[in-house]
Amino acid sequence: MKPDVIVAYPLRPHQMAMLEETYTLHRLDLVKGEERDALLQQAGPISSALVCNGHVTIDEALLSKLPALKLAACSSAGYDQMDLEAMTRRGIKLTNTSEVLCDDVADMALLLMLAARRRLPEGDRYVRSGDWGQKGMMPLTTSTSGKKAGIVGLGRIGMAIAKRCEAVGLTIGYYGRTKKAGNDFAYFDAPVKLADWADILIVATPGGPSTEGLISADVLNALGPTGSFINIARGTVVDEPALIKALQERRIASAGIDVYLNEPNPDPRFAALDNVVLYPHHASGTEETRDRMAQLTVDNLAAFFAGRPLLTPVN
Ligand code: DGY
Repeated sequence: MKPDVIVAYPLRPHQMAMLEETYTLHRLDLVKGEERDALLQQAGPISSALVCNGHVTIDEALLSKLPALKLAACSSAGYDQMDLEAMTRRGIKLTNTSEVLCDDVADMALLLMLAARRRLPEGDRYVRSGDWGQKGMMPLTTSTSGKKAGIVGLGRIGMAIAKRCEAVGLTIGYYGRTKKAGNDFAYFDAPVKLADWADILIVATPGGPSTEGLISADVLNALGPTGSFINIARGTVVDEPALIKALQERRIASAGIDVYLNEPNPDPRFAALDNVVLYPHHASGTEETRDRMAQLTVDNLAAFFAGRPLLTPVN
C-alpha cells in the first residue's frame, strides 16, 4: 500500500513523477472551495505527510484538518507563512531546502547590489533607446569595491553573500541576535548601528514575526544618502512605505529588491522609481536549484517514511 501524501504545492515535473510512483497523492494544490474542503476531509485523517513550499499557509485552521500529519516537507528556505510553534506542539516536523538554494540566492543579492549601484537597467535602456548616440555617455555611477557591506542575518545565505562580497572587495560587517564564531567580520548588536557603518545594507534574515519591520525608517536614515539597500529575504523585514519614501527623497541612494509586502502585485510606487532595481521574488529561480530543492524535498519524505533521520529538519 502506498502511503498517503497531501500536495499543497507541486514540485518539479521529474520529482512529481517520483512522488506519484511512490505515494498516493492528494492534490490540494489543484482544488478550491468546496472541493478543497472535501479533499481535506477525506485525505486529512489518513495523510501523515504534506508537500508544500513557502507560499503555503499552515495555520491552526489547516492543522485541525490534518490530524494524522507528522511531516511538512517544504520546498523552499522560507517558512514564514507557517505556524511553526503550533506544528511543533502537535509533533509535526518541518523540513526546508535552504541548504541547496543559498548559492543562487547569494548570487542574486550580488547581482542586485551591482545592478543598483552601476544602474544596469538604465544603461541597458540607454543603449536600446539610442540615447547613447543622441545624448552621449550616460551619467557616472557608483563604485562597490573598497566599500563596506552590512549583512543583516549571517545564516547560511548570509554567509554565502559575505563570501561573494569579499570577492568583490567589500569589507563585511553583520547584525544578528548573537555574535557568530568562525569569522572575523565586524559584529553590530543593532541594525541601526550596522547601517550607520555600512555603505550597502543586505537583508538575509528569515521572515515572520521575529523580524517584522526590522529595517525601519531609522535604519534607512542611518544607511544614508550614498547607501544601497538590498533585500532578498522577505518583504515583511522592511518597513516598505518607509523604504519607498527614503528612495523617493534620496535619503538612500539606491535599492535592489527581490521581495515585497504584496506579492505578486508590489506597491506600484516602486515601478516609478529610477533608483531601484526590481526582481520578481525569483532569487532561487534557476532550473538547477529548483531541481535540487524538489529532490531534497523528495529525499526528506523518503527518509521520513523509511524511519531514517530527516536530512534538513527545521524543528
Ligand atoms: C525561499 O526559498 O524561501 C525563497 O524565497 C523562494 O521562495
